Amino acid sequence: MKTTTFSTLAALVYAATAFVTPQVRDSSSSSSIDDTDVLNYALTLEYLESNFYAGALNNFTQDDFINDGLPVWARGRFEQIAAHEKAHVVLLNNALGSNATQACTYDFPYTSPSSFAALSQVLEGVGVSAYAGAAQYITNSQYLTTAAAILSTEARHAAWVAGPVNKENPWANPFDTPLSLSSVYTLAAQFITGCPSTNPSLPVKAFPALILDNAAPGQATNVSADGVNAEGQYVAFFSGLSTTFVEVQNGQVVVPNNSMSYAVLSSSNTTADDSTISAGVAILSFPFNSNGTLSSS
Ligand SMILES: *[C@@H]1O[C@H](CO)[C@@H](O)[C@H](O)[C@H]1NC(C)=O
Ligand SMILES: *[C@@H]1O[C@H](CO)[C@@H](O)[C@H](O)[C@H]1NC(C)=O
Ligand SMILES: *[C@@H]1O[C@H](CO)[C@@H](O)[C@H](O)[C@H]1NC(C)=O
Ligand SMILES: *[C@@H]1O[C@H](CO)[C@@H](O)[C@H](O)[C@H]1NC(C)=O
Ligand SMILES: *[C@@H]1O[C@H](CO)[C@@H](O)[C@H](O)[C@H]1NC(C)=O
Ligand SMILES: *[C@@H]1O[C@H](CO)[C@@H](O)[C@H](O)[C@H]1NC(C)=O
Repeated sequence: MKTTTFSTLAALVYAATAFVTPQVRDSSSSSSIDDTDVLNYALTLEYLESNFYAGALNNFTQDDFINDGLPVWARGRFEQIAAHEKAHVVLLNNALGSNATQACTYDFPYTSPSSFAALSQVLEGVGVSAYAGAAQYITNSQYLTTAAAILSTEARHAAWVAGPVNKENPWANPFDTPLSLSSVYTLAAQFITGCPSTNPSLPVKAFPALILDNAAPGQATNVSADGVNAEGQYVAFFSGLSTTFVEVQNGQVVVPNNSMSYAVLSSSNTTADDSTISAGVAILSFPFNSNGTLSSS
């Protein structure tokens, strides 16, 4: 297959844009992250998801969904997902009591039911990675059980949207991909336009954008990062529980042959965490079909 065809197959290659909101606190030491922080981090993401679904369902009727080529059952299921996200918000709010962060304002770049469904696939995948990555900081066993119950529901959403609705991979690996708090925050922040100034700070920072131009599996790809010299650093590709480090040479890296990965720029070739990441996250998702072959259907 020619390289040029891959770019049209790469249905979802999102690059996070750099974004700064006031309520962040750069935590270089993970020991300062407590359960209240993790629950507020989760609540921040749940507000975003809840707002995302409520807004789209408010904008698009059943006819809009069908006229845009989506199945007749899609909108009803999205309503159920919207109700789930709202329930997650309520539960986390109750658990946090007076410590609960408040909803922000958001701007999502979808323009149609199908582009909403494409973005839903990304957000649900990031939601799964967020809970998987944050689990290590939860000390209260009841909170951990609750987080597991939310995580598995988000994973069902992710699989349903990706598979039956978008006709892509319902999963990519035997393991989902945990993401660091700041990596997830960087992805979420591009949709957040403002937050109440009274919100508690989160132990996160937003990284500059990482761009992998026309990325395709097994192909050399141009790498650039906002205000960061990528040359000689490493692109860490997270896929499942594995990380592949590829040195940026002459402005390029060869993208690993994975159907799905998250990429960050790291100063280290053995570690990619909030202390070594200099740009990212870029999301790479390629349509490998049920035979494990890259294809457009
Ligand atoms: C608020 O957070 C602090 C610090 O984590 C904790 O000690 C306190 O119990 C929390 N209050 C509520 C109502 O959950
Ligand atoms: C959805 O509707 C809101 C008003 O309810 C509007 O501000 C927003 O631009 C709409 N978004 C899309 C993608 O149509
Ligand atoms: C990528 O992996 C798929 C499935 O294992 C295989 O069919 C394909 O040939 C591989 N492509 C490259 C460029 O290695
Ligand atoms: C990579 O960058 C080079 C030099 O700027 C450019 O000629 C080439 O078209 C780019 N390749 C892709 C795949 O974007
Ligand atoms: C990793 O980086 C070190 C320098 O920090 C270098 O000596 C080593 O060769 C690198 N290993 C790989 C596999 O790139
Ligand atoms: C998978 O392979 C089988 C057997 O070769 C073929 O009949 C089928 O069409 C393929 N499926 C896709 C989605 O390409």
